[in-house]
Amino acid sequence: MADSMLIIEDEKLLGDELKRQFRRDGWEVAWVQNLADARRVLLGAEIAPLLILADMSLPDGNSLDLLVEMRQASVPGEWIFLTGFGVVPDSVRALRLGAYDFLIKPCEPERLSLIVSAAARSARAQRQLQEEAASLQEHFGPDAFLGSSPASKAVRDVIRQLLLVPLTALILSGETGTGKGLVARILHHSGQRRRGRLIEVNCAALPPNLIESELFGHESGAFTGARGSRRGRIEQADGGTLFLDEIGEMDISLQAKLLRVIEDQRFWRLGGEQQVEVDCQIIAASNQNFEAMVSHGSFRADLYHRLNVLSVELPPLRSRIEDLEELVPVFLAHFNAKVGKNVRFIPDQVWARLKAYDWPGNVRELRNVLERCVLLATDETLPSHWLRLGSALPTLAGQQGSHMTIATDGSVSLQEIERQIIDGVLNSVEQNVSKAARILGLTRGALRYRLQNQGMGPDSGEVETRNG
Ligand SMILES: Nc1ncnc2c1ncn2[C@@H]1O[C@H](COP(=O)(O)OP(=O)(O)OP(=O)(O)O)[C@@H](O)[C@H]1O
Ligand SMILES: [Mg+2]
Repeated sequence: MADSMLIIEDEKLLGDELKRQFRRDGWEVAWVQNLADARRVLLGAEIAPLLILADMSLPDGNSLDLLVEMRQASVPGEWIFLTGFGVVPDSVRALRLGAYDFLIKPCEPERLSLIVSAAARSARAQRQLQEEAASLQEHFGPDAFLGSSPASKAVRDVIRQLLLVPLTALILSGETGTGKGLVARILHHSGQRRRGRLIEVNCAALPPNLIESELFGHESGAFTGARGSRRGRIEQADGGTLFLDEIGEMDISLQAKLLRVIEDQRFWRLGGEQQVEVDCQIIAASNQNFEAMVSHGSFRADLYHRLNVLSVELPPLRSRIEDLEELVPVFLAHFNAKVGKNVRFIPDQVWARLKAYDWPGNVRELRNVLERCVLLATDETLPSHWLRLGSALPTLAGQQGSHMTIATDGSVSLQEIERQIIDGVLNSVEQNVSKAARILGLTRGALRYRLQNQGMGPDSGEVETRNG
C-alpha cells in the first residue's frame, strides 16, 4: 500500500499540480481546498496521511489552527506548510507547534520533493515508534525485549524457544537493570502458563523471618501472630509462574525447602497437616553471579543445578551499545507521550556521550536519564546538560576523601540532593544496601524507606537493591 499524503490548497492550479507531482512519485494523494474537508479526511478512517502539505491561509481559516487541533486529537503525521507570503511570526509558530518545515511559494518541485521525502522518513519512524510503544504496553511478546544488537537478538531467540516448551524452572541472570524483570514478564505472559497468575516475590524486600510464611502460607496458630490460615505465594502461583527475584538473598535453609517444592511439586503450609500440590513454573533471578554464590556457600549447589537446567544471561548494556539506536527513540517516544512533549532531536555530541558511557545501571539507568531529560527539556532537543552521566553524580568513594558540590541557588531541591547522595553512595558500593546504610548512618530499613520515598525502591520499578 502506498503512503498517503493530504494536500490542503485552495489555489486550483497549484493544488492540481502538486497532486500530479506526488502521484508520479508514488504517493496516494488526497487534495482538499478548505479546512473543513481537511478535518474530515484527517479524523476519518479512510486514509491516515503520513504527511500533510498545507497552504497557510484558506477560505475558512488558518491551517496552523488545524495543526493545533489535530495534535490535540493525537492525529499523527508530519506537516509541511506552504505559504504565499512569508510571515515570520507564522513560520516561528508553525515550527514551534512541531511542523516539519515552512516553505515560501513558489517552491522548486525538486526542493519540495526532497523535503517531502525527509518528512516522510521522519513520519514513518514516528509511526513505527508509536506502534512499538503501544505493543510494549499492551503485551509482553518476545519483541518487548528491544535491541538490534546480535546479543539482544540472541536473547529474543532464546526467549522464543523457551516459550514453546513447558518450563519448570529457569535462572535469569544479569547485572541490575538489564531486563530480568521484563524477561520474566515475557516468559509468563507469552508462555504456556499465561492463563495462570504471575506471582512475584522479591526475596531482598522481605524480612527473612517473614519470607517463609509468605512463600508457603500458614495454618492458624502456626507461629505467634499467625491469625487464620493463609495461602502462600507458591499456592497463588499454581498454574502460573512464581518469579523469585533476587533469590541470592534467600536464606539457605529456605533454599532447601524450595528445592523440595520444585522436585516434589507439593509442600506443607507452615503448621499444616496436609500437603498441597502445586504446578507452576519457577523463574529465579539474581544480579549476583550464581557460581560465585555457590562457591562462597551462600547458595545451595543442588538448588542451583536444579534451577539451572535452563538459563538466560542478559548482557550488560555497555557490551551491546548499538542497542541505544533502538532504545533511545523508543524511550523518548514513551516519555514524550507521558509528559506531552516532543523531544526528538539528539545532537551528535549527546549521542557520542551516550555511546561512550559505561551504563552501570544498564537499561534502567538509560530510561531514567531519558526521563529526566524529557521532563526538563525546554524545546525539542535533548538537553545535554541534564544527562549527568556518572561523572556528574557525586562521586562518594566509600568514606575516604569523598565530596560533592551542591548548588545553593535554588536550582536543586532538597529531595534531589538526598536522591543524589543516596545514588552516589549506592553506586560507590555496587548497590549493596547494607554497606550504603552504614556509610549514611542509617539502618537498612530506614534506607529502604528513603529509597521508596525517592521512587528508587523495588515497588517503583526503579533502582532495586541487592546484597542487603
Ligand atoms: N531490552 C529491553 N527493552 C526494553 N526495555 C527494557 C529492556 N531491558 C530493560 N528494559 C526496561 O528497563 C527497566 C529495568 O529493567 P528490569 O527491571 O527488567 O531490570 P532487572 O534486570 O530486573 O534489574 P534488577 O536486577 O535491578 O532488578 C524496565 O523498565 C524494563 O522494562
Ligand atoms: Mg528486577
